[in-house]
Amino acid sequence: MALSEFLAELDELLAQGMAALESVDDKETFEAARVEFLGAKSGRLKQVQKGLGKVSKVDKPVAGKRFNEVKVQLEAALKQAAEALAGAKGPSFISGSASFVAFGDSDTLTQAGPFDPTVPGTHFQLGHLHPLTQTTEELKDIMGRLGFTVAEGPEVEDRWHNFEALNIPAEHPARDPLDNFYLAVAGKTAGKSVEDGAWLLRSQTSTVQIRVMEKVQPPVRVISVGRVYRPDTADATHYPMFHQIEGLLVDRHVTMADLKSVLRLFATSYFEDDVHIRFRPSFFPFTEPSVEVDMSWHGGWIEMGGAGMVDPNVLRAVGYDPEEVTGLAFGLGVERICARRHGVGDIREFFKNDVRFLHQF
Ligand code: FA5
Repeated sequence: MALSEFLAELDELLAQGMAALESVDDKETFEAARVEFLGAKSGRLKQVQKGLGKVSKVDKPVAGKRFNEVKVQLEAALKQAAEALAGAKGPSFISGSASFVAFGDSDTLTQAGPFDPTVPGTHFQLGHLHPLTQTTEELKDIMGRLGFTVAEGPEVEDRWHNFEALNIPAEHPARDPLDNFYLAVAGKTAGKSVEDGAWLLRSQTSTVQIRVMEKVQPPVRVISVGRVYRPDTADATHYPMFHQIEGLLVDRHVTMADLKSVLRLFATSYFEDDVHIRFRPSFFPFTEPSVEVDMSWHGGWIEMGGAGMVDPNVLRAVGYDPEEVTGLAFGLGVERICARRHGVGDIREFFKNDVRFLHQF
């Protein structure tokens, strides 16, 4: 085929195609023009393209270049026509903008427009779990491997589980209204009259120790992870609502050595073997002896929680015999554990819900 003949065909196609696309004024004329000139199987551009193979080798670069120019112009006109229609008729006709996609090789309009395989795909952003939820799940896994099952307890507690059963008597300063969120719920609950302040948002997950021991006979080996509430001023290591992981192991011959081993295993599993643990003598009404547990991993020491041997008074309160069984217990702050592992300097970040922060986990 002579070059001039091929170029003439292209010119004619371009002129007619442009005229048809420019006069598009509804869905039907758009579709007719698209199929006639740019239809993937039998459109006229496709037909003319076949002639390219018949042009002599020496003329092919010129012919090919012109063919591409015409193709680009027609496609641009098609896109423009689609945009004009979408603007006029709204999204019910052509969804999205001009970058709609036509899959397959069909000449029927599913979604109008040429398919450009070089345009990057749409990136769907999937949500993911909050870092504290991820940490909670990981802690449960670690303790599960050590044989601890998961127990749960309510966040709204009565004074017996939050205080009395934990050896915190009525006059104890830990019960001070300034240190707890008491609920104003005077009235009746389940037929019983309830006095104001008889309920509170639990201030520690140690309440779950009691709830488990009330139901289950030794041996007991449980953890509980959940929210606790204290009217603490928020700072880099405190928040009024935070999470604790509580551990309880009651059996014959449980000793302080077991407590240290469990906490060390826990720490090396969550951090790495180079984590350091330090136990400082302390006091909790429900453990004797009691310790404060600090950890250091790639940074300074930070207080992670409290621990100790379950006080015989607590064992008695739930009907266990302290002559027969002993127990170890610990309660650690989840925010602080998570913050140290990820190098977060301020636990308030976990509650700002800033997706730029949360996306990093
Ligand atoms: C307790 O809550 C005891 N129930 C722990 C315990 C359990 C002792 C079992 C003995 C046996 P403490 O008040 O120290 O202890 O809190 C434990 C940890 O919770 C703290 O070390 C800290 O990591 C975390 N924590 C305490 N207050 C806050 C707060 N306002 N914000 C964030 N984390 C906190």
